[in-house]
Amino acid sequence: MTRNAISLNGSWTSRWVFILAATGSAVGLGNIWKFPYMTGMYGGGAFVMMYLVCIVLVGMPIMIAETLIGRRARMSPVNAMRSLAVEAGASPRFAWPALIGMVAALLILSFYSVIAGWSLDYILGMGTGRFQSVDANAAGALFAGLTADPWRLTIWHTLFMALTGFVIARGVVAGLEKSLRVMMPLLFVLLLMLLGYSVTTGHFMQGFHFLFNFQPDKVLDGLLAAMGHAFFTLSVGVGSIMVYGSYMPRQASIGATVLTVGILDTLVALTAGMALFPIVFAGGLEPGAGPGLMFVTLPVAFGSIPFGQVMGTVFFVLVLIAAWTSSISMLEPAVAYLVERTGRSRVAITTVLAMLCWLVGMGTVLSFNVGAPAKFFVFAEDGFHFFQWGAEGGRNFFDSIDYLTSRILLPLGGLAFVLFAGWVLTRDTVRDELNMRSPLAFTLVYWSMRVVAPVGVLVVFVAELAKQ
Ligand code: PFF
Repeated sequence: MTRNAISLNGSWTSRWVFILAATGSAVGLGNIWKFPYMTGMYGGGAFVMMYLVCIVLVGMPIMIAETLIGRRARMSPVNAMRSLAVEAGASPRFAWPALIGMVAALLILSFYSVIAGWSLDYILGMGTGRFQSVDANAAGALFAGLTADPWRLTIWHTLFMALTGFVIARGVVAGLEKSLRVMMPLLFVLLLMLLGYSVTTGHFMQGFHFLFNFQPDKVLDGLLAAMGHAFFTLSVGVGSIMVYGSYMPRQASIGATVLTVGILDTLVALTAGMALFPIVFAGGLEPGAGPGLMFVTLPVAFGSIPFGQVMGTVFFVLVLIAAWTSSISMLEPAVAYLVERTGRSRVAITTVLAMLCWLVGMGTVLSFNVGAPAKFFVFAEDGFHFFQWGAEGGRNFFDSIDYLTSRILLPLGGLAFVLFAGWVLTRDTVRDELNMRSPLAFTLVYWSMRVVAPVGVLVVFVAELAKQ
């Protein structure tokens, strides 16, 4: 097989575009919405510490593995895994983890679109002064009003899914690359503006302390959550990075680019935390508020500052852009695969897949209102139940999909990819593809893929089981 062939779906025009694309995929609601609320729920510094450890020891090696598999094969993840496996004399069944990952990415997209839809509602709300001088109670009530209204949620969910489909349907260069070139720089400018605001107002030191105050006794509480989040935030374990890697030019260095993406992603999450928690504390709000955290705290802050209306609108535009550049990466593996497999047009395939994800997303829309009592995973005193209406505790549809993907499918998918790169591909293939100048760096990366990352994933799973 010739290794210089270009993917059927296209190719980025330079190595920078891979960085833009992978950073666009990585930086999303996970950084701005999920990271702060999970940090709040799992007690602050201990969670942040475990998250950082998981990023470095597990997430980054997996990201390198995915990129190199994608670029080596220049095909969609399912076909990449299959063809490299066959070439290495292994079973074509190695396509399975990529197939499961592809489905996991679509499942993530289904709920991601609903939450991203909230930010669309907030752009409108901020822009029209709905949050002018609100206090925490009023902001909470406005947020509750949004989530209680299935129609409003459906409209925004539909619009966001359409935005995602639109970029994907246009293709790798005209759609993805062109929008990323505009959206990513804008995202960074907006984020810095927000940080500037939080440093000069708010309770900056209190927020900082909450994020970085390490409490060793709390480490185990959120270990699986921290690892799951490390996967989610780097977009690894589902094939999104792999498919972007398949569009990467041959001469680009994988190690350096992945490192850049990992650092940028972490910086954005920490910046978002540092921008948000001072506002939480200044407003006397609850850090453990859960998914509503960002949507309740920020309007309070923006409602009471000079130019708050403009800044608030800008902020939610930022959230929208970040979510958009991530959501396209969830759809791309499946679209690329079906284009290769069926030869049909991107537009047709994108339309069908986006509609399917939209439909599943309706389950999440309803989780916040009429469907809230439907609990899918219930761990009760008398054992585990799969479905119960109105059970205390338990996970509703949204929580279940989030749990299933972040805590189970992503880590297992990542484990399969990294083991594949470390043990199925030959050392020479990996060396050739990584093309690192320093032999020491290569050895470190290679062994982190072979041993450190896989052991890390397994240890966290076992620690979690032992806790039950
Ligand atoms: N990394 C994205 C975020 O932090 O919001 C979420 C994500 C994107 C997860 C792409 C999975 C994926 F395939």
